[in-house]
Amino acid sequence: MNILEKIRLTKIQIEDIKSDINSPDKLEQFRIKYLGRNGLINELFEEMKSVDKSVKAPVGKSLNELKLFAQKIFDEKKSDFEKKNDGMADIDVTLPGRTFNLGSKHLISQALEDISRIFERIGFKVYEGLEIEDEYHNFDALNTPEHHPSRDMQDTFYVKSEVKDKRYLLRTHTSPAQIRIMENQPPPVRVIVPGKCYRNEAISSRSLSMFHQVEGLYVDKKVSFRELKGTLDYFAKEFFGKELKTRLRPSFFPFTEPSAEMDVECYLCKSKGCRICKYTGWLEILGCGMVDPNVFEFVGYDSEIYSGYAFGMGIERTLMIRHGVPDIRMFYENDIRFLKQF
Ligand code: DAH
Repeated sequence: MNILEKIRLTKIQIEDIKSDINSPDKLEQFRIKYLGRNGLINELFEEMKSVDKSVKAPVGKSLNELKLFAQKIFDEKKSDFEKKNDGMADIDVTLPGRTFNLGSKHLISQALEDISRIFERIGFKVYEGLEIEDEYHNFDALNTPEHHPSRDMQDTFYVKSEVKDKRYLLRTHTSPAQIRIMENQPPPVRVIVPGKCYRNEAISSRSLSMFHQVEGLYVDKKVSFRELKGTLDYFAKEFFGKELKTRLRPSFFPFTEPSAEMDVECYLCKSKGCRICKYTGWLEILGCGMVDPNVFEFVGYDSEIYSGYAFGMGIERTLMIRHGVPDIRMFYENDIRFLKQF
């Protein structure tokens, strides 16, 4: 069979199988068989090298035509398949979807943000204090003198320091931020300070050596105890729920006079009395009071002109109350089953 005949037959063959190319796999087989590097058409080109010079031109012409013909069929079929599959030939839409585990904010961070937002709405600014404090800011300037029990080595983590005559420590509460703020600006002051605190506690279901507090401070002319009560009431209703009542009980803190503690009605038993509230119907959530004039002395505010209130609350405790968490350690064990609930 001469080469021209072979070309003619190949074309007939292609025309014949054209309608059988009904899948991308078959199209690929077609490409390999005819258009591939070792395919039939390239074989014919090889063969053409040895034909007589006189017929080279017509042979070359019809061979090129054959190649274009095969290529055209290939291109048409290919674009047909792409259209049909909308470019998603490899996707099996019947497979179940893949789930992504999205991270989320830790319950403690969420609470710190929620509380900050609640106070920001009534004009408080959020301030970050220092986690490593000196004794002066953590104790002395807060009217907590040398002999006060909370200065005992048992409770406080002291930090090694090269500075002479000055002892540093991990702050035991957020209250030293009150001093830092007042030292740095004149009244009025209206701030909220969320952050970590540290105490050298025996670890148990109720205490850890690291925990969080939110501190509040408002100083201006004629700030009254009534405003303190109103503000804390607003907070408790926003944070715990509108239907829960609050109450203030007299208490003592060295840096406030008078001092009080605020209780919120037990959310679990609605103040009927249960195990969580130790059958009192109330849960203690924060300490507060009017800033002691001695504290104003330390920061150079005139206590004849200015008055103020302060408050501080433990976040872990508050959340244990709000969500009925039985053990404080659960917040930091990173057990996904616990964290996922919030
Ligand atoms: N700092 C106190 C504590 O850690 C809490 C506290 C009580 C803060 C009364 C205050 C306050 O600002 O006025 O127990």
